[in-house]
Amino acid sequence: MKKIIGILLCAALLVTMFASCGGGSKATSLQGAKVGVCIYKFDDNFMTLYRTELEKYLKEKGAASVSVMDGKNDQAEQTNQINNFITQGVDLLIINLVQSSSASQIADIVHAKGVPTVFINREPDKAEQDRWVANNMKCTYVGADASQSGTFQGEIVTELPDKGDVNGDGVINYIMVMGDPENVDAQLRTEYSVKALTDAGLAVNLLDQQRGDWDQARGQEIVANDLTAYGNDVEVVFCNNDAMAMGALQAIESAGRTVGTDIYLLGVDALAEACTAILDGRMTGTALNDHFGQSHKAADVGDMFLKGEKVDPYYRVDYMKVTKDTAQQVLDLLGVK
Ligand code: GAL
Repeated sequence: MKKIIGILLCAALLVTMFASCGGGSKATSLQGAKVGVCIYKFDDNFMTLYRTELEKYLKEKGAASVSVMDGKNDQAEQTNQINNFITQGVDLLIINLVQSSSASQIADIVHAKGVPTVFINREPDKAEQDRWVANNMKCTYVGADASQSGTFQGEIVTELPDKGDVNGDGVINYIMVMGDPENVDAQLRTEYSVKALTDAGLAVNLLDQQRGDWDQARGQEIVANDLTAYGNDVEVVFCNNDAMAMGALQAIESAGRTVGTDIYLLGVDALAEACTAILDGRMTGTALNDHFGQSHKAADVGDMFLKGEKVDPYYRVDYMKVTKDTAQQVLDLLGVK
């Protein structure tokens, strides 16, 4: 009798284990795998380049299906999409979180269901990455080190003949147009662009800092207001990304100012239109946010998870400094004719 009860208990345990695995991994590499991709919102210039390349590359690597969802900048909506992907039995998830602070909640969900997950673009904090290692969770992050892009922006200014001090009064008066401040990219670019100036011994003065949430129209609005408020005092405009810098450029030109002559303008991402503006002398510089390198790495690391290989908690892809000297090279790299 005891034996029979024992066998029944074991069987029940096995059934529960299988059930709790949900649609867990069946594929043993990207070849033939079902991949779910969650993007924080589709309406974002840089993430549009990223997701297009990611989808293309995953298919080239033989994924059986790649389904990409628009989180519409709503974490609750994205969490639902993740749960649906799990129910549908995806083998791998690639997630661009709406809120990086939700990483632990999402990591717990995917871990419980045994679905390996590559977080991209919005970096979870170090404590969360350490937790993945400590608990043997199949989670990792692939991204770029945002401090590097900020440093590049600042260095481009220090390399100018007047070092950004247009009026020669010994102080660089600047405005800062931030991305979403919850995002590490926005925080570190803001900090490190200015740090590169002060590290070079230059004096700086912040005229205004506003959040533009990565958005071109917001960039335009903020810089137009600042140019009205501070006029010719504005010497350098730092934008945490190129979309906002493109908006800033519209504001600068309608205020009758000339980039490279009486004002400097910096972005990040190296969107094709920003590289073209740099070549035309209408923008000072940017940093290539390598969506090819990042999307390929994210897919390759997903492949390693599926193959059962050891995966690190963090993979870093370098930025590249873009000025008039390198803008054409970057356009060629982006495949822009
Ligand atoms: C940044 C990028 C921005 C925006 C943001 C979204 O890395 O520079 O343009 O796409 O990611 O999280």
